[in-house]
Amino acid sequence: MIKNICCIGAGYVGGPTMAVIAQKCPHIKVTVVDLNEKRIAAWNDEDLNNLPIYEPGLANVVSESRGRNLFFSTDVDSAIDSADMIFISVNTPTKNYGEGKGMAADLKYIELCARQIARVSKGNKIVVEKSTLPVRTAEAIKSILENTGNGFKFQILSNPEFLAEGTAVRDLQKPDRVLVGGESSPEGQEAIIKLVDIYANWVSKDRILTTNVWSSELSKLTANAFLAQRVSSINALSELCEKTGADVNEVARAIGMDSRIGSKFLKASVGFGGSCFQKDILNLVYIAKSYGLNEVADYWEQVIIMNDYQKSRFSKNIVKTLYNTVSGKKIALLGWSFKKDTNDSRESPAIYVANDLMEEQASVVVFDPKVEETQIYSDLNYLGTRSEIENKKGLKVSSSYVDACKDAHAILIVTEWDTFKSYDWKNIFDQMKKPAFIFDGRNLLNKKELEQIGFIYKAIGS
Ligand code: NAD
Ligand code: UDX
Repeated sequence: MIKNICCIGAGYVGGPTMAVIAQKCPHIKVTVVDLNEKRIAAWNDEDLNNLPIYEPGLANVVSESRGRNLFFSTDVDSAIDSADMIFISVNTPTKNYGEGKGMAADLKYIELCARQIARVSKGNKIVVEKSTLPVRTAEAIKSILENTGNGFKFQILSNPEFLAEGTAVRDLQKPDRVLVGGESSPEGQEAIIKLVDIYANWVSKDRILTTNVWSSELSKLTANAFLAQRVSSINALSELCEKTGADVNEVARAIGMDSRIGSKFLKASVGFGGSCFQKDILNLVYIAKSYGLNEVADYWEQVIIMNDYQKSRFSKNIVKTLYNTVSGKKIALLGWSFKKDTNDSRESPAIYVANDLMEEQASVVVFDPKVEETQIYSDLNYLGTRSEIENKKGLKVSSSYVDACKDAHAILIVTEWDTFKSYDWKNIFDQMKKPAFIFDGRNLLNKKELEQIGFIYKAIGS
């Protein structure tokens, strides 16, 4: 039985996942380690409002186990050494250099972990891939462990994480399924059972699937590709709805009631964001191409092409509607995170929309309930479109939505934060330049009410 777990990587996956394992398995000691000292300090902060990740319900889960059987540390070596099972939960971003640049997953952090585990381990261990990885990565990890280690035996399991940000705690406590892939050898099967037994503390056995390693690795990329493909499909139709008088919400409802289609992930939007969808599809495309499967690669690449188009279509529509110029006009952009209930802004459509409007010389003012100002500038600077000084000039961050909207020509809803719905829109309207426009990239607000107030309201797909 596993008594001691180490998780390398205290990010959006490592932190919440391990907090829930510790909560549900008080008999297991769980140590989450990271090289990032600031992040670990934040996980250990007495004030639970300062946790590095904002997720509804997470603070309660952490406070229940932290210091009891849940620990956060920068001492990676000793956590590896004392663990029976090591989860690798480090980032696997899209490569931005060399072969596969802009498509393949960058596995340098994974390799570093494997080498560190090999160097430090003084006994046999189970290594669990929690990060999302290209199919057949387990082979590379095994080779590193066996060739650079101290002669101990390692079993590699694939256990991809399906949590979505904003609902991570709920997804972890009540997962649709848990997937564990391992070798078919007796040792592989024994390792699988050990991991299944951990989840079985709170997940019913019929929701725990076991497969071979390659199916497990590929299922994760496939799940994200399918989900993103639904969003791109409905977004593609949103434009056709705008041209024909159909309403994309009505179309989504009509098709979603077909039990073969289902109603989820059919919400038309300014485009999908987040650290996973684009990265994982690009990775899938790269893998398909590397096997010479060009038609397969092209098919999935279209999901990304459509998403990029949707984001730029949103910006172009704003410029066109504002009489073909936003130069010098104040535009209030509400919502910077890639979806509600998270402070994560990786690949958020807001970044691209703001950038497009700044290219048109708009004066953009951003308000987000959770994303910090430094993060907003860092996201923009990362694009490299203009200098940091120019970004500071062209875009301001406001801690008040009222100030952000005052004297604006248009308001953009880019994230579906619930709180936006309860704003005093009449008061906001009164303080705006006229005509006052709202471009609702999430179809979040009530069109009828806003039009009654006097806004010119533009939705997606109607
Ligand atoms: P993240 O960037 O939030 O966290 C990764 C952490 O790993 C960072 O804090 C980094 O400092 C740390 N790290 C990197 N190399 C290290 C090393 N050698 N030693 C110690 N620490 C190291 O990333 P994330 O969002 O948690 O994603 C992690 C993985 O999980 C990725 O592969 C991602 O695709 C996958 N995933 C993410 C989500 C999600 O919603 N974010 C969901 C499912 C799967
Ligand atoms: C996704 C997967 O859902 C999750 O299973 C995986 O583990 C990580 O990647 P995440 O990116 O956190 O999770 O959020 P998700 O809810 O999938 O949303 C992704 C993006 O798609 C967001 O920008 C969201 O706003 C957008 N989206 C989602 C839509 O535009 N319309 C929808 O109907 C659903």
